[in-house]
Amino acid sequence: MIPENAGPAAVIVLAAGAGTRMKSRTPKILHEIGGRSMVGHALLAARSINPRQLAIVVRHERDLVAGHVSKLDPAAVIVDQDDVPGTGRAVEVALQALDAEQELTGTVVVTYGDVPLLSGELLAELVATHEREANAVTVLTAVLDDATGYGRILRGEDGTVTGIREHKDSSEAERFIREVNSGIYAFDAAVLRGALGHVTTDNSQGEKYLTDVLGLARKAGGRVAAVVTADRWQVEGANDRVQLAALGAELNRRTVEAWMRAGVTVVDPATTWIDSSVILDEDVRILPNTQLHGATTVARDAVVGPDTTLTDVTIGEGAKVTRTHGSGAAIGAGAAVGPFTYLRPGTVLGETGKIGAFYETKNVTIGRGSKLSHLGYAGDAEIGEDTNIGCGNITANYDGEKKHRTVIGSGVRTGSNTVFVAPVTVGDGAYSGAGAVIRKDVPPGALALTVAAQRNTEGWVAAHRPGTRSAELAEAASTDSSSTPASTEEGK
Ligand code: UD1
Ligand code: CA
Repeated sequence: MIPENAGPAAVIVLAAGAGTRMKSRTPKILHEIGGRSMVGHALLAARSINPRQLAIVVRHERDLVAGHVSKLDPAAVIVDQDDVPGTGRAVEVALQALDAEQELTGTVVVTYGDVPLLSGELLAELVATHEREANAVTVLTAVLDDATGYGRILRGEDGTVTGIREHKDSSEAERFIREVNSGIYAFDAAVLRGALGHVTTDNSQGEKYLTDVLGLARKAGGRVAAVVTADRWQVEGANDRVQLAALGAELNRRTVEAWMRAGVTVVDPATTWIDSSVILDEDVRILPNTQLHGATTVARDAVVGPDTTLTDVTIGEGAKVTRTHGSGAAIGAGAAVGPFTYLRPGTVLGETGKIGAFYETKNVTIGRGSKLSHLGYAGDAEIGEDTNIGCGNITANYDGEKKHRTVIGSGVRTGSNTVFVAPVTVGDGAYSGAGAVIRKDVPPGALALTVAAQRNTEGWVAAHRPGTRSAELAEAASTDSSSTPASTEEGK
């Protein structure tokens, strides 16, 4: 009862290797590019061809890798490799595990956990060629300028693939071959099972080589062929951090290009970094030096950047986010954020609202059309609609032990430097005066003032700062009859 469009019988992802050149306490395949672990990319590509079963072979840092894989792909079968080393042994144990319930028939694909740019499309092409040509084995190959270290593809006089020779086992002449084994294959399950039974560890590395299957399959009368890809990045593995960065940059180049082709304007692709998981709408504009991470989504006509880093941020249609660092926030349609704004998790800005320069926000819901324009902190708060929060306002949410909530209604106008000492509630349409410290609830429509009367001590500067420039100017001002202090700028 296999659906007609079913993919291969299985994909086996090899991931037991140690990856020592990464010099890391983190297992190699858990290192990330484009916001996703290398093995995460490998699993997505494998899943995309719709295999009936997906197995991954682990050994080095087994628990860490298995835990990570189970989270990403709970249906993946995790297989432990034993003490026998080699890619052949890795596939053998996986096949035994998959065969346990019912012997596999049809196509078995083998890929690596550390080849993150391999696409589902190329895997599908490999499987399609393999099945169309009724091959026993089809190997994915690439022609490299420097093939050092790779297994070389051996071909007969007529060009047919006859086998693979590992670099360490190759002759002088074979080392001139530039067509290399990617390590990615499609096998007929029965051929693979039969051949693996005959693979030995009789080679320079004392390992069971999966590559030996090709020669064995041919000897048994099977057709062995290659799919040659011109896109070397798709078969490139990351063994150290230099290769990891190169693969990360290439992945990003591809991601950014794909978004541009889908209708996103990216002013400077070289300084724009977009995780594989990010989703952008048509006519979004990304300005230079912007990084979009995680589950970030940006809706139509929104403008993001320059100099903006967002993780898990949702941006509504036509919103503008300028020079902002944010995570876990939602920006409504037509809203404006920045410049120099720090959005922390739980920030929800309503449509056409504003969080302006030098604001930090956290766990705050701001209603439609409300504005927090400059210099302040809003945390653990709820702000209604069409409210204007004056310059320098702060929600004092922390009493040293616990966090408390501030609730501010709709149509509120707060004076500059108002402090809300939470828990506190301000009713709809209320006002506060400059410098107010709101410790008690403010009823709707009330004006809250906490101003102490101002006292001017005349002549204080002359008495306490004699001989200073201030004293000199004060003296001049008080003797100049034409001056009218403290009134000329009023009303501005
Ligand atoms: C292998 C191929 C080589 C090919 C190259 C491409 C063999 C014998 N050689 O060489 O022809 O050009 O890949 O990169 O297959 N792994 C296991 N268990 C093991 C050994 C390896 O799971 O016992 C996994 C590794 O985690 C890795 C992959 O298999 O993902 C390849 O292992 P690696 O040691 O890099 O193979 P190479 O010797 O480079
Ligand atoms: Ca390798």
